[in-house]
Amino acid sequence: MRRIAVLTSGGDAPGMNAALRAVVRTAIARGWEVLGVRRGYAGLLAGEMRPLSARDVGGILQLGGTVLGSARCPEFQTEGGRRRALASLSAHGAEALVVIGGNGSQTGAYELSRMGFPVVGVASTIDNDLVGSDVTIGFDTALNVALEAIDRLKTTASSHGRAFLVEVMGRDCGHLALLAGIAGGAEAVVLPEVETDPEALARELHAAYQRGKSHALVVVAEGAAYNAAHLAQYFRANERRLGFELRVTILGHVQRGGAPGAADRLLATRLGAAAVDALARGEAGVLVGWVRGAVATTPLEEVAGRLKPLDPVLLELAGVLAR
Ligand code: F6P
Repeated sequence: MRRIAVLTSGGDAPGMNAALRAVVRTAIARGWEVLGVRRGYAGLLAGEMRPLSARDVGGILQLGGTVLGSARCPEFQTEGGRRRALASLSAHGAEALVVIGGNGSQTGAYELSRMGFPVVGVASTIDNDLVGSDVTIGFDTALNVALEAIDRLKTTASSHGRAFLVEVMGRDCGHLALLAGIAGGAEAVVLPEVETDPEALARELHAAYQRGKSHALVVVAEGAAYNAAHLAQYFRANERRLGFELRVTILGHVQRGGAPGAADRLLATRLGAAAVDALARGEAGVLVGWVRGAVATTPLEEVAGRLKPLDPVLLELAGVLAR
């Protein structure tokens, strides 16, 4: 191997820069050259790449976002788009590609690897929805941002005897919502994976009110059938039956921004380095992730287009602890 390319793709995640730094420096340590691709697959199609030195990735470990930029690229989802991507890689002499990104990005990585190009994915998304990694880069930081908001909301909710619906990201998965609910001591969680009856939720909130709780906090996943806007609309007709007054906070992209915490910096560094190690031993067409406390590789075929299910033990705990 002489030259590899690396890109960050899809929604950015805190820790992407740490992963990029690890890829570049471990590859350089092996005597390889690394091309940094701007703007994810969109930049790959446009041939926007240039060599990165060890100095070029200095001072980025602690930065949120991605210095390479990221994009969502509909054209890459077509066969023609992927052919252009391969042509661009070969025009720049890249012999392999490292894709730092989440679900859609790793599905794209799989499609490229099916066309015969060596690709290694690095599990990076705040959604934590990738099969092949118990935890993904950015999830821990995003979870802590959600928790800080929840802790703050609880104080004002208590002062006013209110219920809050706090909507967190996660796309079609409830990992972020479930863990934020447990770690934030929520009265209820609303998840895409579990059918929610808004009437039952109203009864739960009213029961909490009658038990003398000073507030109630419901963590809602954005991908749930009843997201925060739907639930608020549903309850608006007869808010009084909840006991509490209701307020809604949608956290949105604030969860994706800001500096990565220690856990994400370390995870990203290990996974970025492991991606280069995988290529060095001739392994490609795999996702590098973190499984049962260690780096592991999983064939992209098993990752593409799938969502990691919720941990049933945590799901049960969330219900038990909300009393
Ligand atoms: O996949 C990460 C994520 O932040 C999801 O949680 C969210 O649904 C989506 O990206 C938002 O995408 P965008 O930044 O394109 O609005």
